[in-house]
Amino acid sequence: MNKLLRAWIGDGLLTSHGDKWHRNRRLLTPAFHFDVLKRYVDIKTRCADILVRKFEEAAETGTSIEAFHTVGMCGLDILLKCGMSYETHCQLLGWQAVALHGLPVLSDANWMKVFRAVQDYQMQKSSREENPPCRGFLDIFFTAKDKDGFTLTLEEIKDEVTTFMFAGYETVTSITSWALYSVAEHPDIQSRVHEELGSVLNDSDHTDITWEDLTNL
Ligand code: HEM
Repeated sequence: MNKLLRAWIGDGLLTSHGDKWHRNRRLLTPAFHFDVLKRYVDIKTRCADILVRKFEEAAETGTSIEAFHTVGMCGLDILLKCGMSYETHCQLLGWQAVALHGLPVLSDANWMKVFRAVQDYQMQKSSREENPPCRGFLDIFFTAKDKDGFTLTLEEIKDEVTTFMFAGYETVTSITSWALYSVAEHPDIQSRVHEELGSVLNDSDHTDITWEDLTNL
């Protein structure tokens, strides 16, 4: 299984082990730090707005909607924005938009183009500002250095990006679709979720959900 997965997503955190896993896990720990994740809340909220609008439209017209695909596009939108600082409008345009950008199936030559573009962008950015407002995973992958001062190789970055996309897309889509299905099946639980959301959000003086709101739920 590991061999099959490795052929598909490379030798990133999910498939590597031993010294390699240990070194890269340490290097990538900042990607999971709360201070990094906190900055993604706004991006997530804007993407969720689009998702909610789709559900509202379906409800108003009495149309049924395929939840897994719809939620998946929202998850992909968030991942691409947070992970790669990349806008595809995939929630509105569908898979076609992602395929057009060639993201999941990049050839080695195209990866090199992406890397060069990101490196150029980073050099320009670091000359402009000391503390960038929102570090995507790619930023972290490019700047991470081990105790000997070595960075990840381009091949390693490619494998970690593919791993994050793989690990982040299917998990979030499955769990969110399952949660939606479950609350639809259990209206009593759905009411309690509504109540809890109301109690936290109505107490706050803002319309967008914040990191603090999330910790109170
Ligand atoms: C509800 C959502 C998620 C669930 C239930 C979940 C679950 C898991 C589990 C159980 C593992 C351990 C796998 C193992 O030990 O072999 C794992 C590892 C991992 N997940 Fe997630 N995950 C979720 C979301 C995400 C997201 C959004 C990302 C990235 C954007 C992500 C990236 C990773 C990575 C990189 C690893 C490997 C970590 C390591 O080996 O140190 N996951 N996840």
